[in-house]
Amino acid sequence: MKMSVIGCGHLGATHAACMASLGHEVIGVDIDEGKVSLLNSGKGWFHEPDLDPMLAESIAAGRLRFTTDFAEAAEFASVHFIGVATPGHADGSYDMSQLRAVLTSLVPHLRGDCLIIGKSTVTPGTAASLQALADRLLRPGQGRVEVAWNPEFLREGCAVADTLRPDRIVVGAVTEAAAETIREVYRPQTDAGIPLVLTDLPTSELAKGAANAFLATKISFINEIANVCEETGADVLEVARGMGLDQRIGKHFLRPGIGFGGSCFPKDVSALKQLAGNSGYHFQLLTAVIEVNELQKRRVVGKLQKHLGTLVGKQIALLGLAFKANTDDMREASSLVLSARLNADGAIVSAYDPVAEQEARTLMSGLDFADTAMDALRDADAVVLVTEWSEFLELDWHDVAQAMSGKLVIDGRNALDPEAVRAAGLLYEGIGRG
Ligand code: UDX
Repeated sequence: MKMSVIGCGHLGATHAACMASLGHEVIGVDIDEGKVSLLNSGKGWFHEPDLDPMLAESIAAGRLRFTTDFAEAAEFASVHFIGVATPGHADGSYDMSQLRAVLTSLVPHLRGDCLIIGKSTVTPGTAASLQALADRLLRPGQGRVEVAWNPEFLREGCAVADTLRPDRIVVGAVTEAAAETIREVYRPQTDAGIPLVLTDLPTSELAKGAANAFLATKISFINEIANVCEETGADVLEVARGMGLDQRIGKHFLRPGIGFGGSCFPKDVSALKQLAGNSGYHFQLLTAVIEVNELQKRRVVGKLQKHLGTLVGKQIALLGLAFKANTDDMREASSLVLSARLNADGAIVSAYDPVAEQEARTLMSGLDFADTAMDALRDADAVVLVTEWSEFLELDWHDVAQAMSGKLVIDGRNALDPEAVRAAGLLYEGIGRG
């Protein structure tokens, strides 16, 4: 099938490449010429494992190209995915301006009946309001435009695998004709056994926010259990194992740490809480999920103080800055709060991240960016593992012990081997490890 994917960020560029790799002919559209020319050369403008080879292969096979020209996309295809950003407003609601701007640019060029499939995360009612906007923009003789919704569940860092082999595909559509087109788009995946949930528009829109809010709830829950473990001497990793083997609970998303971040969870939890509040329902559980997450980011400071006393003049090394490993994304990263708190408490902060430094430099101040992990932790009183990059798991802890001036290692992700750290004469403290 021929299709366009409008908005070539993490979601859109990955979706375009994956649709092309499934055999479709795809045009990616973005208003940023720099991003478009980089993508046309087979390179993503963000860090995402496995994406670049897939882009290059589909471009070479003639099944994928990128453009800034909406008219070209409209002429090429009658199915248009939209994957632009819906950032959070200060009040917790989503900013729809980019979605509206896409329709305003695209719809006047459309000829014949077309299907527009939104993928961005939105609140229920958005697809219906975009349908009304599309109907207003259409001129007589242009054909009919239907807006459907197909929320994206991909995770950064494994976006390609998540797009090719999602646990499920959820789509909201109004007419049978739209549903049939969507079945055809996803036929390669449904034939491979991936379930397709075809439903109405508001249900599909809410499914994404509800899924993310539930996953965030799981994380805040296990973070609170970890904090109870610290009071009681229990080991949260074993508690999580004991819980997660119960199939009703499941073992995923029970890793305690220094709080969730990223472009989705914080925004989606706030948006769902806000949506419920606007409709007169106080979603108490989500209020607690957000509060627990904010407190969790700050608990590392308490652990440092417990061992070091005042942090004034103490040198603290942060290993990793990105909100999780395998991404350069710094949005809502716990490191932002942590380093600001350490600064405010008078600590001297050094940091190293293998890929997020450039992005981090635009958002953080008052810390030294080191070129290697060893440079960051040289002479440090304490080291905090903030992001679980694999290179940190391979550090030689005897070398680390020699380079540091203090002994404290705080493992904010429970990713290190406590025995290996302790064997080097260092003091290990994880999250909820008794
Ligand atoms: C998330 C959703 O998983 C995805 O379905 C949605 O489309 C977008 O939002 P992403 O933001 O890429 O994806 O990251 P994810 O891997 O889900 O992690 C989110 C945050 O939770 C990270 O900060 C991560 O470190 C944290 N996390 C995750 C935990 O602290 N513990 C866990 O057990 C899992």
